Amino acid sequence: MKFFIDTANLNDIKEAHDLGVLDGVTTNPSLMAKEGIKGKENVLAHYKAICDIVEGDVSAEVISTDFEGIVREGEELAKIDDKIVVKVPMIKEGVKAIKYFSDNGIKTNCTLVFSAGQAILAAKAGATYVSPFIGRLDDIASDGLQLIGQIVDIYSTHGYATEVLAASVRHSMHLIECAELGADVATCPLNVILGLLKHPLTDAGLAKFLEDAKKMDAESVLA
Ligand code: E4P
Repeated sequence: MKFFIDTANLNDIKEAHDLGVLDGVTTNPSLMAKEGIKGKENVLAHYKAICDIVEGDVSAEVISTDFEGIVREGEELAKIDDKIVVKVPMIKEGVKAIKYFSDNGIKTNCTLVFSAGQAILAAKAGATYVSPFIGRLDDIASDGLQLIGQIVDIYSTHGYATEVLAASVRHSMHLIECAELGADVATCPLNVILGLLKHPLTDAGLAKFLEDAKKMDAESVLA
């Protein structure tokens, strides 16, 4: 399973990249606004700065909601870098635009997906990625992870090429469950990725090893 980081914060992106486990980035207008990015030129420059850090795909979301606007914006975003994936909302005009982008060799991420039916439409339109939002479903007492399993099964049954990109991943158990369910990608904040590191037995074990190492008096050998 690929790890994408879900942020527009350049420091967090660098930290995840330097860990050596990062496969891509997803952003959305809320995450861009959180970083204080304002104005078209700054927005485009920020996406370019992200592309310059990572090796994998970088999702940049359109703001238009009509077909012509989505296509115009998406084509401009795609020109920034080959890594750009145009993120398009799961609306009627969005589905039409995904089909257009797919026919014209532009990668897409169909976002704001909350049902298996929406995921089927995204795949039929030729989306590169589909983003079902786990956390936001959990927030309204629906089962986000159950939806991931359902979409993985449907795509596998029908051989759809669209990758299942589990989004709105809020904690490390979400991430582990996504891996078990066969999601192709999970996108989450840095703290969720770092959460995978944590185990009290690792900390206690290392403390004991380092304590015992002092008895070896091996500094001169290892230096
Ligand atoms: C996905 O691409 C979205 O940007 C993101 O995962 C949404 O997460 P949230 O529900 O925690 O805002």
